[in-house]
Amino acid sequence: MNRSRSVLEVLGGKTVFPPPVWLMRQAGRYLPEYRATRERAGSFLDLCYTPELAAEVTLQPIRRFGFDAAILFSDILVVPHALGRKLRFEEGRGPLLEPIAAGEIERLSSAGFHERLRPVYEAVGIVRSELPRETTLLGFCGAPWTVATYMIAGHGTPDQAPARLFGYRHPAEMDRLLAGLAEISAEYLVRQIEAGADAVQIFDSWAGVLDEESFERFCVRPVVHIVARVRERYPMVPIIGFPRGAGEFYRSYRQKTGVTALGLDWMVPASFAAGLQKEGPVQGNLDPLRLVAGGKALGEGIAHILSKLGGGPLIFNLGHGILPETPISHVEWMLGEIRRTER
Ligand code: CP3
Repeated sequence: MNRSRSVLEVLGGKTVFPPPVWLMRQAGRYLPEYRATRERAGSFLDLCYTPELAAEVTLQPIRRFGFDAAILFSDILVVPHALGRKLRFEEGRGPLLEPIAAGEIERLSSAGFHERLRPVYEAVGIVRSELPRETTLLGFCGAPWTVATYMIAGHGTPDQAPARLFGYRHPAEMDRLLAGLAEISAEYLVRQIEAGADAVQIFDSWAGVLDEESFERFCVRPVVHIVARVRERYPMVPIIGFPRGAGEFYRSYRQKTGVTALGLDWMVPASFAAGLQKEGPVQGNLDPLRLVAGGKALGEGIAHILSKLGGGPLIFNLGHGILPETPISHVEWMLGEIRRTER
C-alpha cells in the first residue's frame, strides 16, 4: 500500500484507510533511546535547545515504529522562556516557572525571541532533511490559554484555578497576556513552517476547565488570531487544533477558529466525533491507558475508533500524550492492528 503523505492527504479532507497514525508525546520516556539521549543532554531544556539532540529524539519513534508523522521535539513552555520568564523542569514535578504578576504583563517583551529559539528552528531543518519524504513533519505551539495557565500559577494544577481567578480579577491584563502570546506564537509557528514543518498543531491542554464565556474569550479568541496570522503567510499549511476537554464546545471551536482539523480527547463520544468529522478531519482519540493496559482493552478501543470514524478523514492518535509506563510491545501491536485492518 502507498502511504505517501497520508497525514497531509487526510488534512486535505481525504479518507485514507487504514488511517495514518502518530502519537502525541511519541518521543518520550517510554523509549529507552529517548532516555539515553536525555541523559546525554543533561537537562530536559538542554535537550530542547540542542538542535542535533532534539532532532535525534524527534526521529527515534519514526525509525522504531514508522509513524506517519513526526512531531518536533520541544515543549510549549519554551515560548514563555524565550519571553524571559524563568523556567526549569524538575524530575517528577514537571515544569516550574516564576509566576507572573498582573503588573508585569505590560513589560513582557519579545525582543530577542527568535534568536533564543533559533535552536528549535534548526532542529526542524535537521529533522526535515533526515525524514522520509512520506512522513509529515508537524510543528507546534501551546495555545495562549494553556501557556498562560503555567505562567500564572508557575506550575501545573488540576483545575487551573489560579489562571481562571486571574482572568476574572484582572480581565484587561489577561486579555493583554493572551493577545501577546497569540501574536508571538503565530510568528513562532511561521518560523517553524519556514524551517520545514508541513503542518502545525496548537495544544490547548487546559481548554476543558473554562465556562462558556471564558472559553470564548481565553481559548477561542487567541486561536482565531493565530490561525489568521499563520494563514496570512501560509494559507495552505494545515492547522490542527487540540482543545482538550472542550466537550460540547468542540463544535463552536472548529466553526469559529477555522482550524483544518480537530484533535479529540478520549472523552469525546464516537457519535459526537462522527458529527464533527462531517465538517472536517479529526484526530484521536484512544485513551492512553488502553495503550498501557494492552490486550482486550486496547483491541476494543482501536476497533471502536476505526469502525465509527474510519469511514471519514481520520488521523489515528491518542486522546492525550503517551504515558511513560507504556510498553513498547503494545505500541507495536497497535500499529499492526490498525494497519492490517481492511474494510
Ligand atoms: O509530542 C511530542 O512528542 C513532542 C514534544 C512535546 C513535549 N511536550 C515534550 C515533553 C510536546 C508537543 C509537548 C507539549 C506540552 N508540554 C503540553 C501540551 C500537551 C499536553 O501534554 O498536554 C504541555 C501542557 C506541556 C508542559 C509540560 N512539559 C509538562 C506538564 C511536562 C511534565 C509532564 C511530564 O510528562 O513529565 C513537560 C515535560 C515534557 N515535555 C516531557 C516531554 C517528553 C517529559 C520530560 C522528561 O523527559 O522528563
